Amino acid sequence: MPTTAPTRQATVAARAVTKRFGDRTALRDVSFEAYSGELLAIIGPNGAGKTTLLSILAGIQAPTGGEVSSPGRKVGWVPQQPAIYSKLSVAENLRLFARLEKLSDPDSAVERMLDHTDLHERANEEVGRLSAGNQQRVNVAIGLLCEPTALLLDEPSASLDPRQRERLWGFIGGLAGRGTTVVYSTHNVVEVERYADRVLVLADGELLFVGTPGELGRAVGGDPRDFEAAFVRFLDLCGH
Ligand SMILES: Nc1ncnc2c1ncn2[C@@H]1O[C@H](COP(=O)(O)OP(=O)(O)O)[C@@H](O)[C@H]1O
Ligand SMILES: [Mg+2]
Repeated sequence: MPTTAPTRQATVAARAVTKRFGDRTALRDVSFEAYSGELLAIIGPNGAGKTTLLSILAGIQAPTGGEVSSPGRKVGWVPQQPAIYSKLSVAENLRLFARLEKLSDPDSAVERMLDHTDLHERANEEVGRLSAGNQQRVNVAIGLLCEPTALLLDEPSASLDPRQRERLWGFIGGLAGRGTTVVYSTHNVVEVERYADRVLVLADGELLFVGTPGELGRAVGGDPRDFEAAFVRFLDLCGH
């Protein structure tokens, strides 16, 4: 009996998104969709528009043209520069952000996040005294307070050492495994190879590629095991 594949509904989508700052075009006609349980990496040189795209998806900035959609508007945002207060404790930060999010029961949201991120033991410590890895957990926990269907992270591992990075990805991978869409930017190609189902390549505000890391490698020929070389070659071939 023929079966029809279930149609996947995008949890976040950008349609022809353009962003201009004065006469500078930071994003030009960018369209893509992301799905439940997917890990999507955004890579590209500095100034490519990665942060601008993520913050538009997060609803922090409005696009100049085009639109973004996220059915249910449950999008969590983890900025590169954490908004956390270093003099407040972990629990105080979570409670403050739970109130700012206007959650109906901030206290239980805080408890849930402490459990979820394994930060119970640190609940009463000043955030400024935590390791970079634990500070990043608090930052991610704040993004998760609204119980998002899609979590957006801007260079989440940039300030972490390899072990902290691995722990962070273990945690984020677990979220994706339970169905959360994860969209993140990174300069770390190892993180793309290990932790991305698909990759978006942005350069000078243009979306040049959407596909799996393996497809990007095959698109440029060369050694399929060397993603970094494939990425650099891809940018060269596109004139960036
Ligand atoms: N608030 C802003 N005002 C003016 N220009 C901006 C602003 N934010 C970003 N830009 C410009 O938009 C482009 C893309 O920036 P950004 O999204 O931060 O890139 P990326 O995160 O890939 O490094 C850059 O040229 C940057 O200078
Ligand atoms: Mg950036």
